[in-house]
Amino acid sequence: SSTELVDPFGRRITYLRLSVTDRCDFRCTYCMSEHMVFAPREQILSLEELYAVADAFIGLGGKRIRITGGEPLVRKGLLGLLERLGERGELEDLAMTTNGSQLPVMAEQLRAAGVKRLNISLDSLRRERFAAFTRRDLLEQVLAGIEAARAAGFARVKLNSVIQKGRNDDEVLELVEFAVERGLDISFIEEMPLGSISSHRREETLCSSDEVRQRIEERFALVRSSHVTGGPSRYWQVVGSRTQVGFISPHSHNFCSSCNRVRVTAEGKLILCLGHEGALDLKTLMRRHPGDGERLRAELAEALRLKPERHRFEADAQVQVVRFMSVTGG
Ligand code: GTP
Ligand code: 5AD
Ligand code: SF4
Repeated sequence: SSTELVDPFGRRITYLRLSVTDRCDFRCTYCMSEHMVFAPREQILSLEELYAVADAFIGLGGKRIRITGGEPLVRKGLLGLLERLGERGELEDLAMTTNGSQLPVMAEQLRAAGVKRLNISLDSLRRERFAAFTRRDLLEQVLAGIEAARAAGFARVKLNSVIQKGRNDDEVLELVEFAVERGLDISFIEEMPLGSISSHRREETLCSSDEVRQRIEERFALVRSSHVTGGPSRYWQVVGSRTQVGFISPHSHNFCSSCNRVRVTAEGKLILCLGHEGALDLKTLMRRHPGDGERLRAELAEALRLKPERHRFEADAQVQVVRFMSVTGG
């Protein structure tokens, strides 16, 4: 069926990134400040409201939903929401991005609820570095989470690594090896300037995807892959393995012309582009008109007229958007 969500640049919006909490058990340096102030509970969408947003999106032809956070698995009652979404036959994909810390206990239940694809953040395989990135000494737990995800039988498990010069750029080969040995995909991400983070000056640690790819090609043969998820990642296949290596390169390879997505924050703000402040307050609308799915769909469709053509991260590695990544859900 055709989507009713088309923006002024002709892009069909079929993918929703739905953040279920702004909280997280980690404090990744590129994502949060050390002392994050989280939204008060009553400002966070209820499970019912989260479902209403998803339902409106599906009603407008939405095909894929990715659950994000913060860390989605710290949200109480999440499994119930996933089960409801898992039953929606219109959805071609139900995915989640997680830091992996809760997977040792939750991986199987997520799979059973109908989650198909899992992305797990992993910036380093070295304990001290991992602790420096996340401000939590929990590498072992995340590695156990990755094993639990493998055992649970997801269609695909992908690792996400934000690569920073002088911090983990020398680990790229080890990370690819780790993925290849386990039949996982892995995406390398250029850090995006969201939120003011005093602990590092981003332009000093930026590492371009081309540099990362050159390092990988010192040991692995890569061929450009036709694998597309409709997202910003450009994929290469590691020859002789099932691993797809993705590059998300906001600074070096703009991907906005094929953007297929919008975001909804845990506070119910519809964000039309990760790189812009503009947002539409769906929470107030839903609380004024509870149960009015028709109105919600109309507002969503109308809002798409405001979707910007592209982000401008490449122009300036310093803060452009005040909102932290943890608030947006990536
Ligand atoms: P799929 O496309 O569903 O495979 O997921 P993904 O790899 O895009 O999702 P994931 O949640 O793992 O995000 C990986 C990185 O991509 C994060 O840093 C996201 O912020 C970034 N990202 C995802 N979508 C967009 C986008 O539309 N614009 C920008 N600038 N970054 C994005
Ligand atoms: N730039 C790029 N990626 C980021 N992530 C978090 N903050 C940033 C940032 N500033 C990544 C995390 C996670 C995904 C949801 O987003 O590593 O894998
Ligand atoms: Fe938490 Fe993910 Fe942000 Fe790290 S990147 S602080 S794991 S939400």
